[in-house]
Amino acid sequence: MSELTPLTGEALAEIAACADLAALDAVRVRWLGKKGRITEQLKHSGKRVASEGTETVVALQAARQAIEGALAERRAAIGAAALAREIEAGRLDVTLPGRGEEPGGLHPVTLARLRIETLFRRAGFDVASGPEIEDDFHNFGALNIPANHPARAMHDTFYFADGRLLRTHTSPVQIRALRERGAPLAVIAPGRVYRCDSDITHSPMFHQLEGLAVGEGVSFANMKAVLHGFMEAFFERDLAMRLRPSYFPFTEPSAEVDMSCVFCQGQGCRVCKHSGWLELAGCGMVHPHVLEACGVDPERYTGYAFGAGIDRLAMLRYGGNDLRLFFENDQRFLRQFRAFRA
Ligand code: FA5
Ligand code: MG
Repeated sequence: MSELTPLTGEALAEIAACADLAALDAVRVRWLGKKGRITEQLKHSGKRVASEGTETVVALQAARQAIEGALAERRAAIGAAALAREIEAGRLDVTLPGRGEEPGGLHPVTLARLRIETLFRRAGFDVASGPEIEDDFHNFGALNIPANHPARAMHDTFYFADGRLLRTHTSPVQIRALRERGAPLAVIAPGRVYRCDSDITHSPMFHQLEGLAVGEGVSFANMKAVLHGFMEAFFERDLAMRLRPSYFPFTEPSAEVDMSCVFCQGQGCRVCKHSGWLELAGCGMVHPHVLEACGVDPERYTGYAFGAGIDRLAMLRYGGNDLRLFFENDQRFLRQFRAFRA
C-alpha cells in the first residue's frame, strides 16, 4: 500500500473514530462528497495525467477505494453493534421456567350447589328453577300467605314500584313446578333469594335449596329418610338428625331440621352454641291449600317440601365462619377452595 498518502491515513483514522452512522456519513461527505478532499483532487485527472503521468491519479483512485472500503466496513460494524445492543436489550431466555397460569376454582357456594344437585339427581329428583323477580302470587299468595298475613313481615321483602318483588325464598318454584308439571313429581330448586337483612349469619342475598315431592302416599317418614340420607351423603359421615315442630303457612305439619354438629359430633361447641345441634332447614307436608292453588287434588295426593340454606351447608362442609366472606369476592379467601371438588 505504498501509494497510500498520509491523507488516506487521516481519513481512515477519522472513520475508525466514528461511533454512529451520522458521524460516518459526515466523514464520507468530507472526503468523498462532491466537494470532498479526494473528489476535489480527482477533478482534473485528465490534465494531471497529461502533465504528470498516471501515478498521482492512480494513487488517488486507490485512496478513494480504500476510503470507500473502510466506510463500508465501519458501517457494517456500527450496524452489527446496534443490532447486538437491540438483541441484548430484548433478550429472552427461553430456558427460564414459565410464569404459569393460576388455575381457577369454583366458589364454595357453587361447589355445594353442584354436590347437592348430583346427590338429589341420584335420588330421582329433577332440578327446577324460577325467576328471581317474582310476583306476589307465587312468592306469597299461592303459598297460603294471604295479604296481611304476619309471615309477610317476617320476610323483609324488597319490593319494586310495580308490586313485583325479589323472591324471599325458593318456595315459589314449588308453585311454578307443580302448576307446570302436575303430580306426581320430585324436584329440587337451588337458587338466589333476597331479604332486607344483614349481619354475621344473614346476608341480603343468599341461597336456598327447595325440595318438593308430591305423589300418592308420600309421607312425612319419606321426607325424614330423604333429608337424613342427603345430609349423610353431603357431609360423608354418620349424622344424627332431629325434627323440631315449627310453623310455615305452606306446610302442615311443619318442622325445622337439625343435624348433629359436624364440628363437635354433638358434644357441644362454639359453632353450635353448645347445643350439639345445627339448624339446617325448614320442612313439612305441603298444605292442601297449596296443592289446590296448583290444581292438584289434595284428596288424592300428598307431598313434602323443604327449604335449606345452601350457604350454611357450604360453610359447614368447606369451612368458614362468617357468611359475609362468601360474598365479598376477596381472592385470598376464595383461593383456599381452588383445589376442592364438588
Ligand atoms: C323459608 O324460607 C321457607 N321457605 C323454607 C321452607 C320450604 C319450609 C319448604 C317448609 C317447606 P326460612 O326463612 O327459615 O324458611 O329459611 C330457610 C333457611 O334459609 C334457614 O334455615 C337458613 O339456613 C337460611 N337463611 C334464612 N335467612 C338467611 C339469611 N339472611 N342469610 C343466609 N341464610 C339464611
Ligand atoms: Mg328459619
